[in-house]
Amino acid sequence: MNDAIDRLALASPIGEYLARLLHKHRATPDGDVATYIPELAKANSEWFGICIATADGHVYETGDSRQAFTIQSISKPFVYGLALEDCGRERVLGAIGVEPSGDAFNSISLAPGTGAPLNPMINAGAIAAAALVAGHSPADRFERILAVMSLYAGRRLELDEAVYRSERDTGHRNRAIGHMLRNFDVLKEDPEIALDLYFRQCSVRVTCRDLALMGATLANAGVNPATGEVALRRGYVESVLSVMVTCGMYDYAGEWVYRIGLPAKSGVAGGILAILPGQLGIGVFSPRLDVRGNSVRGVKVCEDLSRDMNLHFLSPSRAAAAVMRSRRSLATVRSKRRRSAAEAKILDEVGHRVRIYEAQGILGFTAAEVIAREVSTHTGPDSFAILDLKRVADVDGAASHILFDLQRALRAVGTTLIYSNAHRLPRFTRYLAEASARQAGLRLLTFPELDRALDWCESQLLAERPQGEDPGRVGLAGQQLCEGLSADDLAVLERFVSKESFAQGEFIFRMGAPSDRVYFLMSGEVSVVAEMPDGRLRRLSTSTAGMSFGETAMIDGGVRGADVVADTRVECWSLSRAVFEDLGRSHPALKIGLLRNALRVVSGIAGRLTGEVLALES
Ligand code: DON
Repeated sequence: MNDAIDRLALASPIGEYLARLLHKHRATPDGDVATYIPELAKANSEWFGICIATADGHVYETGDSRQAFTIQSISKPFVYGLALEDCGRERVLGAIGVEPSGDAFNSISLAPGTGAPLNPMINAGAIAAAALVAGHSPADRFERILAVMSLYAGRRLELDEAVYRSERDTGHRNRAIGHMLRNFDVLKEDPEIALDLYFRQCSVRVTCRDLALMGATLANAGVNPATGEVALRRGYVESVLSVMVTCGMYDYAGEWVYRIGLPAKSGVAGGILAILPGQLGIGVFSPRLDVRGNSVRGVKVCEDLSRDMNLHFLSPSRAAAAVMRSRRSLATVRSKRRRSAAEAKILDEVGHRVRIYEAQGILGFTAAEVIAREVSTHTGPDSFAILDLKRVADVDGAASHILFDLQRALRAVGTTLIYSNAHRLPRFTRYLAEASARQAGLRLLTFPELDRALDWCESQLLAERPQGEDPGRVGLAGQQLCEGLSADDLAVLERFVSKESFAQGEFIFRMGAPSDRVYFLMSGEVSVVAEMPDGRLRRLSTSTAGMSFGETAMIDGGVRGADVVADTRVECWSLSRAVFEDLGRSHPALKIGLLRNALRVVSGIAGRLTGEVLALES
């Protein structure tokens, strides 16, 4: 028992639960340590460890989770995966079936006529799979097996020489199976070569923590969540998990799926590996075996885990129903670009033509079906639908097809589908780009953030109602802060402001700098930005000609609350705080007029932010 591990386990609700399971089943006296491989008989029958590893690499463990034992039959799914990688699905299926035998693991279950082993989880199939592993020599072939199992475990695994020799010297039944396979030409070479590979793969030393991580790697589509290394190509993961479901627990497979419902594999040294695809890997170790060669405590632990944590892979998931996190429209949500009152009024009127759908989770067929049904129900000609994928973890092949077809179908009815935050899903965006390129006239619109997609839609809607010529340059009289000022006051102000210009990308002021100037934007665009933890600049607002920024200089001075950057070449006037203060004495009416307008601008911004918060809450 490793006290440090148990103390850590008790630090989390999951760890605590595992510790309770360990305590509950430690009392189970049933089962015997395997002895038919003499070295295995030396195991301490009281060893008992449980470990769960999540598909994103978090590990919970308790008991003897670091106690080493040999992997035995649990090696079979990994070697089957390697055979698929080396030979391809068709050749492997030609040599080894995928039908459950319903027999014990060491039964000579061969297909009548061909002699092909019924599946790769029984010894006959596993020996045939080992024979399909490529390599320059038997040593090289075993090194490849050890290397791939180490990729799954995320650490270098080793051979237990003593168990290997013990198995090799007593493996007569397996030898018989090997020779039967040679007799049916399933093995094309001296069966001793494949048999030796098989004895070695069974004798690789692991812990139940390793098993959990190996399971998490399969659960994570073949990628080790702790190391990020690919142990198996995504396309073969389902094949490996399928034979684990149907054949992994031999003549207990039916009852296992019925009671526990997880792809799994057991080994005669007392290990059990179980996997919930997409979510987690479970490793349990206790050498006491039942008559079928499965760990007694291991089966009980998995039964409790599956029931208590609802892990059965056939349990109906309502994930699709929760795919849509929010549905909003431009009537309530706007981009961060500040709009003139006239523009804002237009967007209030026509904003309903832009609908925003925020999706979440993993998008598969059913989730994409929900999105397609919902989006196509609510959109019509000359409208826009933004699908924001910020909270989507993955989009699989089926969902990619459906969303692309949705884009085409919407275009046919005059609706433009736009994606935001799709860049985080490279496989999906690659698919969309390739599919759109094959479709004449279908424009793929993706924006890095929802804000930019909203901005683009706003400019499309506003372009339909041009507000007269875009002045491009706005004089002092046309400035928001100068609204209602008299010509005299404007003339006075003109004397006190200084002209400034900034190049595109230049910071006009940085967060924390003294708030010592207010700016009147003559031409160009500036954005208030904040640096995100990942270093990217997030836009908080964009101002255009005629608008002001840096108003805090007129209110409390203090320091700048964010950075302001020139999005384009910018020309503006600035008024220093000191001069503004002096205006209070020399031209109080001008000061009050400027202050009144500044407060109107600030309250407008506050109103917009409140709207955004409310929209987020809805
Ligand atoms: O071939 C054997 O008999 C052992 N190396 C492996 C058998 C085994 O693990 C069966 N699983 N429950």
